[in-house]
Amino acid sequence: MNKRAVIQSVGHAVPSKVLTNDDLERMVDTSDEWIVQRTGIKERHICQGDEGTGSLALEASREALERSGIPASELDLIVCGTVTGDYIWPSTACMLQTELGANNAGAYDVSAACAGFIYSLGTAAAMIESGHAQNVLVVGADALSKQVDWTDRSTCVLFGDGAAAVVVRGETDTDRGVIETVLMADGSGGKYITYEVGGTKYPVGSPQAEGRRDKVYMAGAEVYRFAVQAMGDACCKVLEKAGMTPDDVDLFVPHQANLRIIESAAKRLGLPDHRVFVNVAKYGNTSGGSIPLGLYEANEQGLLTKGSVVMTVGFGAGLVWGANLIRW
Ligand code: UT7
Repeated sequence: MNKRAVIQSVGHAVPSKVLTNDDLERMVDTSDEWIVQRTGIKERHICQGDEGTGSLALEASREALERSGIPASELDLIVCGTVTGDYIWPSTACMLQTELGANNAGAYDVSAACAGFIYSLGTAAAMIESGHAQNVLVVGADALSKQVDWTDRSTCVLFGDGAAAVVVRGETDTDRGVIETVLMADGSGGKYITYEVGGTKYPVGSPQAEGRRDKVYMAGAEVYRFAVQAMGDACCKVLEKAGMTPDDVDLFVPHQANLRIIESAAKRLGLPDHRVFVNVAKYGNTSGGSIPLGLYEANEQGLLTKGSVVMTVGFGAGLVWGANLIRW
């Protein structure tokens, strides 16, 4: 029988500092009313001092590993979905490998922004199903608070920091595990969410970098239109691939960027509120951390039991989007 990539455990980490909409009212020309009406966000967790993507990813990974009962030495792969690594390189996954003592694991990052976890889990499942890996740590982690312009009200109110991780193991004789994954991209829309300075085109401090964006830039309305279409499309596609319908989905765990985008996707799929997981009010958009953080909280709240069918969906800078269908 074919190998299935079965999620064994979930861990999470968010910084302790909470930044509320009231706090933001004192920083930029905004209001709690505007933020809640347009996004559903009430507060977000923000890194302080030395905290960053690396420390959050490590804490989440430790919790996931401890809960899985699988020692770090038995991991053969670490995949981390992030676009805000502590360094441009080396990768966050390699830092995790050494800090965890995962001495038999390969490690790499996946750059797919807010769809980072979807892409990473899809990749991990393919490695397990093809026999190239048995125990994989999959992490979604970002600390966009370090990269936003805190004077730009159109972006700084949207993001928060967070990470979560799952341990995935290859199993036979089970119908649990990742059922299907859909990965999509449209690079022509890359200009709508960018962070230009710091790569090799516009190196920091170079003449080429002058006048280029050295903070997060987002064309909100364009991304909004794309997201509404993309979320529904990816879900329909992953369900079709699996020969399933929205009725088969016990819990929908979408990327938490904006409550209105989530509601419109749920409406298109005909999913009632009680089958849609939402925590955007507490965390804002944590990018790669968002979906696994949703899985973590849903699991803690008893919304996921063995055999539950979970559909995740995400979209983000690239542009990228995709979905995983998982039997928990
Ligand atoms: O994970 C992928 C990341 N991205 C997303 O998911 C973002 C997708 N886009 C969105 O969620 C929405 O487009 C936003 C929440 C970013 C913006 O909502 P919107 O309804 O599209 O607002 P808008 O950009 O059309 O702006 C409406 C008005 C503008 O004022 P004028 O030009 O109409 O006078 C903005 O200047 O709201 C103003 N505005 C604000 N006002 C108060 C923009 N940001 C703020 C703010 N507080 N924070």
